[in-house]
Amino acid sequence: MTRYAIVLVFSLLGFLVILTPWPGPIHSAGERELHVRARQYAYTPGILRVSQGDRVTLVLEAEDVTHGLYVDGYNVDLVAVPGRAGRATFVADRPGKFPLRCSKICGTLHPFMLGELVVSPNAPFWRAMSLTVLAAVGTVAFLLSGRRPAGEEAAA
Ligand code: CUA
Repeated sequence: MTRYAIVLVFSLLGFLVILTPWPGPIHSAGERELHVRARQYAYTPGILRVSQGDRVTLVLEAEDVTHGLYVDGYNVDLVAVPGRAGRATFVADRPGKFPLRCSKICGTLHPFMLGELVVSPNAPFWRAMSLTVLAAVGTVAFLLSGRRPAGEEAAA
């Protein structure tokens, strides 16, 4: 491969990384305030979606009896009494799916009062990482292609 071909190929790959649509919703990291309503025996919404790096404030409102909301994996726990919302703030620093469950006994089906927190990986972060790796590999390939076998060097 000639050096020009290497530069061309890696430049194209770089553009691909930048232009490829991100699979999933994109929103840059920032402040998020999510309101969750709790009633026997479900949360509305049942799935909370945030981006990695978001500073998330959960506001829990109880519509019938006292409910809790525990975010497994983030060790966040809040309690809402009817008329008095619970509130907690945390930074969603790890991507993945984290189960939510009610942490206050609220009735017979209390153990089944579940939900999910989905923390999607930060798109700009992964783009930047991919570009860095591409640039590194491209540079190495470019430098190696400049080396000539010893015999050729002597003949030149
Ligand atoms: Cu709701 Cu326990």
